[in-house]
Amino acid sequence: MNNTAQSTSTPAASSLSTTAPSRGNESSQQSASSPEPASCSSSALVDVEDLARGVSSSPATAPAADGEKKQLYPSVPFYGPCIVRNLKPGETKKWCTCGLSKSQPWCDSSHRGTEFKPLVWKVPETPQTIYDICNCKYTKKPPLCDATHMSCPIDVYKRQKACTGPHTDAIKICSACGWTPGTVLIDL
Ligand code: FES
Ligand SMILES: [Zn+2]
Repeated sequence: MNNTAQSTSTPAASSLSTTAPSRGNESSQQSASSPEPASCSSSALVDVEDLARGVSSSPATAPAADGEKKQLYPSVPFYGPCIVRNLKPGETKKWCTCGLSKSQPWCDSSHRGTEFKPLVWKVPETPQTIYDICNCKYTKKPPLCDATHMSCPIDVYKRQKACTGPHTDAIKICSACGWTPGTVLIDL
């Protein structure tokens, strides 16, 4: 089994959990306990070989700073959701769309100097204990995981391999393919 995380912005190993992920909108009784930090489920990692038979996927659209509908391709911190517990109903969160944040799945302003902006999301008023928040950045239901992480890695690898860049250490991210300095390009 190969891990498929391929960016230098992968969350620290200490934040990983082996808890089985629940589905994105699964609802349960709201706990009265205080908010806990997000944990990313390693059980949701995808085997590259399994994906060789892969299904094509289209990326989520990230807003461009100039207001145009330019397609931006994010870096992928982790192919699987972050399991977030005990968010406060009505609370406003900023979901990282660029993939560069070190506080995934939330924005830590690492997008500054890029064309990406965070997605502002209001936690629904309906009580829910667990949210699966997208951490591959390709969900079509941001910020909730829609399982796109299961099918998008092959497309991501191919796009980065084909991209003409420029890919240099002088940039934070290539928004044409999601390449970041240190990303290892994979031959398929
Ligand atoms: S750090 Fe990624 S959108 Fe802000
Ligand atoms: Zn590129």
